[in-house]
Amino acid sequence: MNMTNQNINLSNEIPDKEPERQYYYIEKAKEYIQKKSQEIGRPLTFCVTTFGCQMNARDSEKLRGILLEIGYIEASEDIADFVIYNTCTVRENANTRVYGRLGQLKPRKKKNPNMMIGLCGCMMQEPEVVEKLKKSYGFIDIIFGTHNIFKFAELIVTRLESQRMIIDIWKDTDQIVEDLPNERKYFFKSGINIMFGCNNFCSYCIVPYVRGRERSREPQAIIREIERLIADGVVEVMLLGQNVNSYGKNLEQPITFAQLLQEIEKIDGLERIRFMTSHPKDLSDELIEVMGNSKKICKHLHLPVQSGSTRILQKMNRRYTKEQYLELVDKIRKAVPDISLTTDIIVGFPGETEEDFQETLDIVRKVRYDSAFTFIYSKRTGTPAAVMEDQIPEDVIKDRFDRLLNEVQTIASEVCAVHEGTTQQVLVESVSEHDSSMVTGRLSNNLLVHFAGSEELIGQLIDVHLTECKGFYYLGEKI
Ligand code: 5AD
Ligand code: SF4
Repeated sequence: MNMTNQNINLSNEIPDKEPERQYYYIEKAKEYIQKKSQEIGRPLTFCVTTFGCQMNARDSEKLRGILLEIGYIEASEDIADFVIYNTCTVRENANTRVYGRLGQLKPRKKKNPNMMIGLCGCMMQEPEVVEKLKKSYGFIDIIFGTHNIFKFAELIVTRLESQRMIIDIWKDTDQIVEDLPNERKYFFKSGINIMFGCNNFCSYCIVPYVRGRERSREPQAIIREIERLIADGVVEVMLLGQNVNSYGKNLEQPITFAQLLQEIEKIDGLERIRFMTSHPKDLSDELIEVMGNSKKICKHLHLPVQSGSTRILQKMNRRYTKEQYLELVDKIRKAVPDISLTTDIIVGFPGETEEDFQETLDIVRKVRYDSAFTFIYSKRTGTPAAVMEDQIPEDVIKDRFDRLLNEVQTIASEVCAVHEGTTQQVLVESVSEHDSSMVTGRLSNNLLVHFAGSEELIGQLIDVHLTECKGFYYLGEKI
C-alpha cells in the first residue's frame, strides 16, 4: 500500500509536492525515533484513541499507519509514550470526555520525559477549544485539525526540532492527499473516504464548520484504493462521507453516487459494499434502483430522520417533510424488500412541543426501524439552533428521551426476530467477546450472530442458520 521510501535522501531539498514531502518527513522522524530508542534502550510506543464517528476511525488508521512507518510500536494508552486523541465535537459531552482524559495524562507526562501528547480531529477546529488548551493545558505537544492529518509526520518532526507546543489548524482546504500509509484495524474490511466535508448546514450541527465544504475524491483514486485493499485481503468496504448521496457533484467530471457504486460493484474479489451516511433529501431514485439490482451492496440503509415533526424538520433545515421521508421509505422497501433501516433521532430540539415529539414517536412506529441512535439535543456554539428561542428544559427532554428509547427498543427487538429460522451469509469478524469457543459474524443487514467456531474463520464469508433471536443479535449454527 505504501510508497517506497528507498530513494529518499534526507540531505536533499525538502520536496514541495505531496505525498513526497510527507515521505521525506517520515524518514526524518524515523531517524529521531531510532536515536531516542537507542538512548533509552527500548522502542517508543504509541496509542491513537478515537472518539466519534467512522470518519474519525478511518482518520485514526491513517495516523497509525504513519506512526508505524516512523518506527513507533503500538501499545495500550496507559503505557504509551505518544498518546493521540482523535476528537469529536458533535455533542458537548464528547468535548467533556476529552478534557477529563487530558487531566489524567498530565501526571504521567511529568513522570515520563519521552512522553508526547497529540490532539487532532473535529474538536480542534473550534477556536475556543484551542484557546482553552493553550491557556490551561500547556503540556500538550501537537494540536492539528481535520484538514491536515496528512501532515502528521511533518508536525512530529517540527515538534521534535523545536521543543514547543505545535499548533496547526486549517480553516478549510480543497486539497486531498492520496497514497499515504495507513494501518487497518481489520484485515478483511475497511472504510474508504469517498468525500470529505458537508454543505448541508442542518441548524443543530457543527460538522460543516469543523469538516469544511464538500470535496469528493476522484472515482479512479477510490477504485485504485479498493483494488489495492482487495489484493491485501479485504472483502467488505464501507464508503464513507458525511453525505454520500451528494458524492461527485463538485468533480470536474461530475458523477453520481449511484454511478460510483456501479463501478465499485464491478471490482473482482470485492464481496460486500456498505456506505454511510445518507441524507434523505439527496437519496435518488437512481440509487434505489442500483441498490435493488446489486449483488454486493448490503441490505442496510442508515437514513437519519432526526425528527418526525415537519415543523421541527424545517427548523432543523433538513429540507424534507415527514410525508416525504415516509414515501422514500416505501420506495426503498419496494425496491429492496428485506432491507434493514436504521436512523438517528434528536430529542429536545429548541421549540419541540409534546405534539412534535408525538410525531417522532409516530414515524418510529410507522417505519419500524431495525435500530435507532437516539440523541439528546446538544447546543453547539456557532450553530443557528444554539441561539433559537425556547430551549427545552432538561427534565422534559429526559422524559421524552426515555419514552423514545423504550419505543425504539421494543420495535427493534420485534423487527430483529423476523429472521429467526433463516440461513444467511455472514462475514466472520472476531472471536466472541463472551465465549472464546464462539465467533461473531455480521449479516448483510448489519445484525450480529454468535455461533460455535474458531479464529481461522475470521475474514471468511460463510452461511449460518439463525437459530435464536436474542433481542438485538442472534445465536446461530454454521451450515
Ligand atoms: N445534538 C444532538 N445530536 C446531534 N447530532 C448532530 N448534531 C447534534 C447535536 N447538536 C446527531 C445527529 C446526527 C448524528 C451523527 O449526531 O442525529 O445524525
Ligand atoms: Fe464527530 Fe462529526 Fe467529527 Fe464525526 S465528523 S468525529 S461525528 S464531529
